[in-house]
Amino acid sequence: MSGTERIKKVCVIGASGKLGQYMVRHALERGYEVVGVCRERSVPKLAAFEGRMEIVPGPTNDPEVIRRAVAGCDGVLTVLVPWGVQQYSSGTAQAVLDHARPGARLVFSCGWHISRDGQDRYSRLFRAGVGIASRLGKLVRAIEIEDQVEACRRIFASDTRWTVVRGSSLEEGESQGLPVWSRHVGDPVLASDLTRRVDFALFMVEALVDDALVQEAPAIVGRLAPSALAHAPTAHGEPR
Ligand SMILES: NC(=O)c1ccc[n+]([C@@H]2O[C@H](COP(=O)([O-])OP(=O)(O)OC[C@H]3O[C@@H](n4cnc5c(N)ncnc54)[C@H](OP(=O)(O)O)[C@@H]3O)[C@@H](O)[C@H]2O)c1
Repeated sequence: MSGTERIKKVCVIGASGKLGQYMVRHALERGYEVVGVCRERSVPKLAAFEGRMEIVPGPTNDPEVIRRAVAGCDGVLTVLVPWGVQQYSSGTAQAVLDHARPGARLVFSCGWHISRDGQDRYSRLFRAGVGIASRLGKLVRAIEIEDQVEACRRIFASDTRWTVVRGSSLEEGESQGLPVWSRHVGDPVLASDLTRRVDFALFMVEALVDDALVQEAPAIVGRLAPSALAHAPTAHGEPR
C-alpha cells in the first residue's frame, strides 16, 4: 500500500497558528478528514474552517487532549512551539509519541537550529541570532529554545514513523511549490535561508505520503530561492 492510500484522517496540533492554519488548508484540499488542536482561547482563529474540521481545544502538551485528538488518525502534523517556559514543546512531542496509533506518520516542525547528527554547519550570524533569541527569551520568560531541542531529541530517539521538518527563515506570500531539502544546514542548496510559510506547510503535509522522509530531518528552502535554483537537482534528478 502506498503512503497516499494510507492517509485518510490527520490531526494538526497547533492548528490555530500561522503554520497550522496553512496545514489545515492543504490537508482539507487533499480531501483528508482534519482534527485540529489549539488553546481554547485560539479557537476563534479557526472560524474560517467551521464545519469542515473537528476542533479539540486545550493545551497541546496535555496528554489527555492529545490522546483524544489523535484517535483514529493516520497522520499527525505537529507545530513544535519554542514558546512558554513549561516544557511546552517537549510535552507536546511526548504526548504525540505516546498516543498516536502505531504506524501513524508523525511530522513535526522546527527550525534550522535543531541538529540531528551534529553535522550541520551554521554561519556565525545564525549562531549569534539563536544565542541572542535564547538568552532574551529566557530573560522575558517567553521563549524556551532548549525545550524544542529536547522535544527533537525524544523524537529522534523514537522508533515511530517520524519526520522532523527544519524550517529556514520564513516569509509570507503566494506558494512557489514544494520546497527543496537537504540533510545538513550549510549545504549550498540551502544558502538563501528563505521559505514561504505556505510552502513550509505544504512540505509538512506532503511528507505524510513520502516514505523517503521517514526518520529524516530535512532542512528546507524555497524552491525559487536563488540557492535552490543554483544547486537543486534537475527534474531528471542529476545535480546541476
Ligand atoms: N518564525 C520563523 O521564522 C520560523 C523559522 C523557522 C522555523 N519555524 C518553525 O515554524 C513553526 C511555526 O512557527 P511560526 O513562527 O510560523 O509561528 P506560528 O505558526 O504562528 O505558530 C505559533 C504557535 O505557537 C502557539 N503559541 C504562541 N504562544 C503560545 C504560548 N504562550 N503558549 C502556548 N502556545 C503558544 C500558537 O498557538 P495559538 O494560536 O494558540 O496562539 C501557535 O500554535 C515552529 O515549529 C517554528 O519553530 C519558524
